[in-house]
Amino acid sequence: MNHFINIRDISSSILRKIIMNAKKRKIKRKKTSTLDLDPDKPLKGKLLIQMFEKSSLRTRLSFSIAVKQLSGDEVTLRPDELHLSKGTESLSDTAKIISTFGNAFMLRTDSDKKINEFKKYMSIPIINGLSPSSHPTQVLSDIYTIEEIKKKPISKLIICWIGDANNNVINSLIEASVKFSFKLNIACPKKYEPNKELLKWVKKNKGKIKIFNTTKEAAYKCDVIFTDKVISMNDKVNKSKKLKDFRNFKVNSNVMNFAKKDAIFLHCLPRGPEVSDKVFFSKQSKVWQQALNRIYVQKSILLYCFDKLR
Ligand code: CP
Ligand code: NVA
Repeated sequence: MNHFINIRDISSSILRKIIMNAKKRKIKRKKTSTLDLDPDKPLKGKLLIQMFEKSSLRTRLSFSIAVKQLSGDEVTLRPDELHLSKGTESLSDTAKIISTFGNAFMLRTDSDKKINEFKKYMSIPIINGLSPSSHPTQVLSDIYTIEEIKKKPISKLIICWIGDANNNVINSLIEASVKFSFKLNIACPKKYEPNKELLKWVKKNKGKIKIFNTTKEAAYKCDVIFTDKVISMNDKVNKSKKLKDFRNFKVNSNVMNFAKKDAIFLHCLPRGPEVSDKVFFSKQSKVWQQALNRIYVQKSILLYCFDKLR
């Protein structure tokens, strides 16, 4: 059994294997309907228990569909209905019960500590479905989408991130840039630069990250432009001040023009004012394909967790 908590904890070869498996399974599903089962039924009899302490549309749906296509099933818990959230049951007892009833646990939480606590008391795999510091299932799926569209390994591309450089998605993207060995240009205001400890880890592992304080420098001749909400779900900041700080970091047509002609635009969604409608609805924007691909990569992540990745 394997946990899937942070990209940095997983070897490059396993991450690559997850992507290859997603590719194989997606090809085989041409002309099938959403609930048609993959013929090998690898998760027959298995139950995924999901819990969302924060809102979710894509992660919730993609895990739910993924486990069903693999012949398993899922139950989604509402934290406000559990004894745990009312303080009348301990986390360790809750974790033991989830491990007894289910076969894997997917948690979206506002506390990184909580994931580790659950991991400590669980005897089944735990998947991080977004925490304040990490969104690993999203980023792995985005790498799959980039390679699917660009038809080359991500190590041959320049990826550009514009926006908050100290949130869960960019943290996982930074970790992925080391694991998949790709060039990552980041554009953000000075005070929103990436986490220093993470940058130390990047340096130690010979990552190829460049940080800029203008969009032009970061986007210049890149292949992919990514952004994310300026205000994340866990952000306890002065929102109007933060939005103001990012006024020169919006992805608009000017910014796209600095990139290569065939550059694509990605956004994990939901979106805010960090991207113009013109770019968001342009041909370069691949956000719908990006969202749908999460199903395929969640399937391979589940198989990895169950030691069934072939
Ligand atoms: N991108 C993403 O994780 O979407 P949800 O918050 O809707 O799950
Ligand atoms: N950074 C965003 C990602 C949403 C999927 C957030 O945490 O709100």
